[in-house]
Amino acid sequence: MKIEITVNGRKRQFDVEPNKLLLNLVRDELYLTGTKYGCGIGECGACTVHLDGEAVLACMVLAVDADGRQVDTIEGVAADGDLDPVQESYIEEGAIQCGFCTPGFIMTTKALLRENPSPTEGEIREYLKGNYCRCTGYVNIINAVQSAAKKLQT
Ligand code: FES
Ligand code: FES
Repeated sequence: MKIEITVNGRKRQFDVEPNKLLLNLVRDELYLTGTKYGCGIGECGACTVHLDGEAVLACMVLAVDADGRQVDTIEGVAADGDLDPVQESYIEEGAIQCGFCTPGFIMTTKALLRENPSPTEGEIREYLKGNYCRCTGYVNIINAVQSAAKKLQT
């Protein structure tokens, strides 16, 4: 099937099998490997991207369902080489260890702060509950989200 998706602001055409996953499209055809293949069954959040601005699990979305829509991945977050405030905060707060989960966390955090610019700790934990991290224990991640929220409000 022929489809067209705007990926990180650039229109791209693809010829895909009907069962091709969006996750495999961005990783295998565009080499945007920042979006991680974790569980492949919608459980870990490592594959989170934005579809028309909403955080979605790319392992649970068919590429054909993204036809005519906008997909943003972690590679599109830094503007002209400048880190996004969310990325800066994750680094400053030590919210990254192995980094495997980080792209998914950052994409989910950006969606959260767009919907709710000043979330409570409880709201952060609830929104991020679909993203798993095996390394950090989550405390520094919560701190990073709170720090990013402050930065984005100033
Ligand atoms: S790889 Fe998609 S949720 Fe785990
Ligand atoms: S930093 Fe290693 S899984 Fe989160």
